[in-house]
Amino acid sequence: MVHQQLPPMDTHLSGTHSVLCQHVIRPHSHHHIKSRLSASDDLVQEIESIYTGLSSLPSLEPGMTTNKLFSKLVSLCIQQYDKETITNVLEDPRIARLIKYLRDMCSVGEYLLEYQWSEKIVSDCKLLDISRDDPLRSFVYYENYIELTKLEIHTMLGCGVVPRTVVFIGSGPLPLSSILLTEMCSDVAKVHNLDIDVSAISVASELVSAIGKNNVIEHHQCDGLDYKGFTQADVIFLAALVGCNHEQKLLFLQRIHDQCEPGTAVIVRSAHSLRALLYPVVEPHDLVQCGFDVEVVLHPHNQVVNSVILARRR
Ligand SMILES: C[S@@+](CC[C@H](N)C(=O)[O-])C[C@H]1O[C@@H](n2cnc3c(N)ncnc32)[C@H](O)[C@@H]1O
Repeated sequence: MVHQQLPPMDTHLSGTHSVLCQHVIRPHSHHHIKSRLSASDDLVQEIESIYTGLSSLPSLEPGMTTNKLFSKLVSLCIQQYDKETITNVLEDPRIARLIKYLRDMCSVGEYLLEYQWSEKIVSDCKLLDISRDDPLRSFVYYENYIELTKLEIHTMLGCGVVPRTVVFIGSGPLPLSSILLTEMCSDVAKVHNLDIDVSAISVASELVSAIGKNNVIEHHQCDGLDYKGFTQADVIFLAALVGCNHEQKLLFLQRIHDQCEPGTAVIVRSAHSLRALLYPVVEPHDLVQCGFDVEVVLHPHNQVVNSVILARRR
């Protein structure tokens, strides 16, 4: 199966040099193809074993084993691989079968992790002097959120987008993206956080009040597909975990398009390379197809897992 996906050897060779080149190149190419195949096979087996480990746990609540398995998965996904290895892994039938479940697990794991931390931070706020200590900093992925927010703010700046009124679809129990956006970007006057989940909205509102930001960040419990306030937004964020597959992502993009004003910016979080094992992928073309002009596509190769796409409604 994997063999069939590889191009025939030496297809790039032509003309008078080909005979000579084949002597030199063939042993190397053969060696490379073999080693790439075994590298992708090792990766597939590792991913399968992480998946088996995670699925045998009684729950995906944060804990030593859960955290270890998720960290292993993330660090494997964010490494640099050559194109063939990525294609071999993503098209491997074992992975193709697993990817949906793997992403669902990541989504549940991320939700539970955020929930636990949000509750902890709310209770810390009652004990700490929040004008001196920033209780949010204790969150394990705090630095990652800072880095992602910096990339998103710079993307907006580069495109001349001024985010005065923001709608964030899928803000979660720990709405760190919205909070950091208000702290790192002085243009922001109002963020409307949307989440379909009642408990996420309840703990997130408590957290935002506890840190004294409820005048800037408002929470709405609703399915993003039903929200009626998109017309007021300068920027609409679509979280990576909203719309668990390609079809649902398109549905969201279409709905946002139909509800917002021409010129409104959208920031869509996506994923590239093996990071696609963690989050669904949105391609620039998907946005074009739904009536947006894509201005920037940014694929981090560092610790930041999500790609960022900025587009404007036509
Ligand atoms: C766990 S959070 C994390 C946000 C994350 N940092 C990201 O970029 O995806 C994702 C949230 O999206 C919410 N969500 C999923 N589908 C949604 C929908 N259709 N409308 C609103 N919120 C949704 C979930 O309830 C969850 O709390």
